[in-house]
Amino acid sequence: MFSVAIDGPSGAGKSSVSKAVAKAAGFIHVDTGALYRSLAYKALKSGTDISDTDAVNKLLARTEISLILEDGAQRVLVNGEDVTPFIRTEEVSMAASNISKIPSVRAFLLDTQRKTAEEHNVIMDGRDIATVVLPNADVKIFLTASAEKRAERRYKELLEKNEEVEYNKILEDVIKRDKQDTERETAPLRPSEDSVTVDTSLLDFDQSVDKILQLIKERM
Ligand code: DC
Repeated sequence: MFSVAIDGPSGAGKSSVSKAVAKAAGFIHVDTGALYRSLAYKALKSGTDISDTDAVNKLLARTEISLILEDGAQRVLVNGEDVTPFIRTEEVSMAASNISKIPSVRAFLLDTQRKTAEEHNVIMDGRDIATVVLPNADVKIFLTASAEKRAERRYKELLEKNEEVEYNKILEDVIKRDKQDTERETAPLRPSEDSVTVDTSLLDFDQSVDKILQLIKERM
């Protein structure tokens, strides 16, 4: 199987760029952030205190997460319930960043991610794909952009959904989440030694997709 790892901070365009690359290359796109988000959503919904590792471990013991890949779309089931429509809120974003710091949570989700890459040609996006999940990935990309540019994209996305948002608050959240994701002890966000960094601050969407397709072609 062929695998492409794409890591980077939130809002760099990992998901949308990976989706387009997957379509063009005939790969399956796996958005691993959705797994952390789904677990965070479940924690919020069940009233689990995310800062309490024991409580989170108890939640893990009674939780089953499965990744469904159908027609290029991905869904996450938590104990059989499709939670995909509920995991894109700012509240779930922050909770996902918090819950992902817990080592047992990362271990809990590791198998699902590795198995998926064993069964399909994947382009998998996340924070630790090249460094931990798929250290032998064929192509490793660190996709990034300035915090301001990423906040601006997120701001526009939320405006389009008619959500009431303030740019400064979004920027603050982006910076806070970057800090949490890069400074955590277990599997922090960082480029692997052998990854290629692609900065999308000055690239538009199509240019970002082309750049990655070109890197894949070189390695195939
Ligand atoms: O990619 P995303 O914004 O949907 O991810 C949500 C959070 O999940 C992110 O802040 C950190 C965590 N995450 C992670 O720790 N490792 C991954 N491979 C993917 C996401």
